[in-house]
Amino acid sequence: MEPDELAGLACEDYVDSRLVTGSAEVGDALGLEHGPLPDDRLDALGAKPWTLLVQAVDHHIPAVADLIDPFRFIPNWRIDDVMVSYATDQGGVGAHYDQYDVFLVQGLGRRRWELGDICSEETPLLPHEDLRLLAEFEARQDWVLEPGDILYVPPGLAHKGTAIGHDCMTYSVGFRAPSRTELVAGWTDEVLDQLTDDDRYVDADLKLQPNPGLISEHAVSRLHKMVMEKLGDEAAFARWIGKFATAPKGAALDWQPEHTLSDEQVLPRFACDAILVRNPASRFAYVRWADGNVLLSVDGESYECCDETGAFAEKLCANTRIPVDPSETTARPVRELILALVNRGSIAFDGDEG
Ligand code: SIN
Ligand code: CO
Repeated sequence: MEPDELAGLACEDYVDSRLVTGSAEVGDALGLEHGPLPDDRLDALGAKPWTLLVQAVDHHIPAVADLIDPFRFIPNWRIDDVMVSYATDQGGVGAHYDQYDVFLVQGLGRRRWELGDICSEETPLLPHEDLRLLAEFEARQDWVLEPGDILYVPPGLAHKGTAIGHDCMTYSVGFRAPSRTELVAGWTDEVLDQLTDDDRYVDADLKLQPNPGLISEHAVSRLHKMVMEKLGDEAAFARWIGKFATAPKGAALDWQPEHTLSDEQVLPRFACDAILVRNPASRFAYVRWADGNVLLSVDGESYECCDETGAFAEKLCANTRIPVDPSETTARPVRELILALVNRGSIAFDGDEG
């Protein structure tokens, strides 16, 4: 990417961007501004160090989305997005740690990465209003990345990047790992949605107990079962996790057709070889049931797929560009799945995107 292209994205209201002013060398003096930035903001910064960080650039620039391809050995649901940063000489966001695995790919220019120790919630932070910066940082390793170099930083590892010279661009291929807090909160909300107040504890077989104050072992075990039966339903959990793991993040790239397409309208397009493309902002994942059927999840919605539709769903999850053989779409359920996804804007016929 050209630096100007990144600066342009940071001015758009549908893009999540941040501007950090100051040098990584003096963490507590760093300033933070959130995008969208006014058109003339970057020009006004003059010679002092600054870093522009733009989230999910892969959702907007196809060439940046291609940068994920070498990382496809990691499942789709664990991939987050590609953040791109631009810094002037000495620019950097200060010493910090992230919760996720990240591959830092150097684009333009050079950046020094200093790596420290593994941190946790107990690690002291600087009293900074906006940034989570480490109060103490001791570099244990020092790497200078040149264009094309990659540095892997595991979750929790303290790191500090400083631009060496102007025009320093770094591509962060970031991953996600749900926290237990998120999982428990999300899954219990889902279970609660399925429950009614009529579903209550009953003890028609109640025995007289010597002390009325006792919550008997039998009662505890029954109460516990009432909870666990629902929370422990693994098939229901698998159904939910697909939706949870593919839920869209931020404003998606809008590929929805202006008018909802019908089977009659798309049928001719399958007569010869068609190519479908996945919206780079969309998330695709599936679980396979014991009977071989597939539950496809796309952007927080799930689709039960069997037989040839299941095979097609797997193909959609494996590739970002999907050539479709006319024989694959003779089955109506396959066309219905394609139609549902095209109408949601999660996929498009090659050439129709956006
Ligand atoms: C950057 O690209 O400047 C910051 C990336 C990071 O440290 O997470
Ligand atoms: Co970081």
